[in-house]
This record gives sequence, structure tokens and C-alpha cells, in this order.
Amino acid sequence: MTETTTSSSERPSLPMQGVPQPRREEVLNLPRVHISSHPVMAHKLTAMRDKNTQPPEFYRLVKEIGALLAYEATETLALERVEIETPMRPMIGQRLAGGIGVTPILRAGLGLAEGFREVIPEVQIWHLGLRRDEQTLQAMEYYNQLPHRVDLQVCYAVDPMLATGGSAIDAINVLKRRDIPRLCYLGIIAAPYGLLKLSQTHPDIDIYIAALDESLNDVGYILPGLGDAGDRQFGTL
Ligand code: PRP
Ligand code: URA
Repeated sequence: MTETTTSSSERPSLPMQGVPQPRREEVLNLPRVHISSHPVMAHKLTAMRDKNTQPPEFYRLVKEIGALLAYEATETLALERVEIETPMRPMIGQRLAGGIGVTPILRAGLGLAEGFREVIPEVQIWHLGLRRDEQTLQAMEYYNQLPHRVDLQVCYAVDPMLATGGSAIDAINVLKRRDIPRLCYLGIIAAPYGLLKLSQTHPDIDIYIAALDESLNDVGYILPGLGDAGDRQFGTL
């Protein structure tokens, strides 16, 4: 986390200090934003937020929430008809039309992608490494395994935390350079500031989150939040 000093006249200002932030109520009804109201989600999220929850349990909960979010976010996927035979007789069934991509924003998106994959094992996983600079809060790309051949109906950028929105916006920018008919963002906790920024920058995507929190603190962490989602998943506390 950012170290702050107060003695030098050139002390670095805290990146979110004094930055105006929208209130939660102001962003609750943004178009194409879906906030889960499922009680099982709320239950698991509370267990995750608890500071006493240790990394193995935390990672398990990220995966489980990823699976629940995947179920909610795939509600409108396109289907195609397919002829099959049951042990009794032929019938026309349905299957998902076209591929489904999941882009975990490294590192913290990895657990969510695993949970998504448990719901739809056929998903393609496109890894994208973005690291947020703690002084400026700008996201920097350091890894990109997006394929050039694209045959997806939709791709989901997944990352537990939507704080200033910088990482999510950059991830969607990267995905928009591929020819994907539909893009979505899927996350666990959003701050009003980042949610508004993402929604305004990319009004053509659907955004699925488990919870909308209150605000960002001066160094860009979500309140009440859950702390650092990457560190808590991978034990690098
Ligand atoms: C965290 C988080 C998001 C980003 C959110 O990642 O997982 O990717 O910060 O912040 P933003 O909305 O202000 O961009 P971080 O860069 O700390 O990397 P990590 O996943 O490797 O921990
Ligand atoms: N990244 C995190 O992991 N947590 C926050 O609260 C903000 C960004």
C-alpha cells in the first residue's frame, strides 16, 4: 500500500485525496449495470470481506462467487438448435451459440475465472496482466495472451475490484481491438466512482457486480471493501 510522508514540502499527494466522488445512490440505477440481489451471494461476500478469512478460504469464496456471477451474467446468451438423440428418441435441443471468452485481469481475476469455468467448462481463457501503479492509480499492461483468431459471441473481463475503474476501462479497450460482438465486465465489489467511470466510458457493455460499496479512500482502496483482493487470494499479505 502507498507509504505517506508529511515532512517534505514535496510530499506526494494521495491520488484520491480531494477527488469528488459520486454517492452510492447516484449510480444505483445506471443503465446496463446489474447488481446481484441473491442472498447466497450476500452471505458469501460477507465471509470474504471478514478480515479473519484466510487465503485458502478467501480463494474458495472468490471461485464460488465467480460461479454465481457467471450464472447471472450468462442469462441472456444466445442459443442455437441442435439435433440429438436421447436414449428414448431423437429431439431438438439447444446449445450455446458461439464461443465464450473470459479475460481474467491478473492477478486478482484468476479466482473469478476459475469459478466461471466451473459453470461453463468450454470457455476460452484470455489472460491479460494489468497492474495498478499505487502512486498514480494508472493501470499498466504487462502481459497479454489474447489470441488473434476470434470466434466468440461474448467475452467477459473479470476482476474482483472495480475501484477507480482504470483497470477495467483499459481491459475493455484492449478487448475492443478484437472483433468480439459483445463485451461484459464482471466483478465482485465496485466503488461508485469506478462504476460511473466504466459505465460512462463504455456505455455499450453490461456490467455485473455482486455489491456496490460506499467510496474510495485517499489511496484508492474501496470502503468498506475487502482489502487487497490479489494479496488475500494468493497469501502475499
Ligand atoms: C487491483 C484489482 C484491480 C485493480 C482495481 O489489482 O484487482 O485490477 O486493482 O483498481 P482500479 O479500478 O483503480 O484500476 P492490482 O493492480 O493491485 O493487481 P493484482 O491483481 O496483481 O493485485
Ligand atoms: N484493488 C484491491 O484489491 N482492493 C481495492 O480496494 C482496490 C483495488
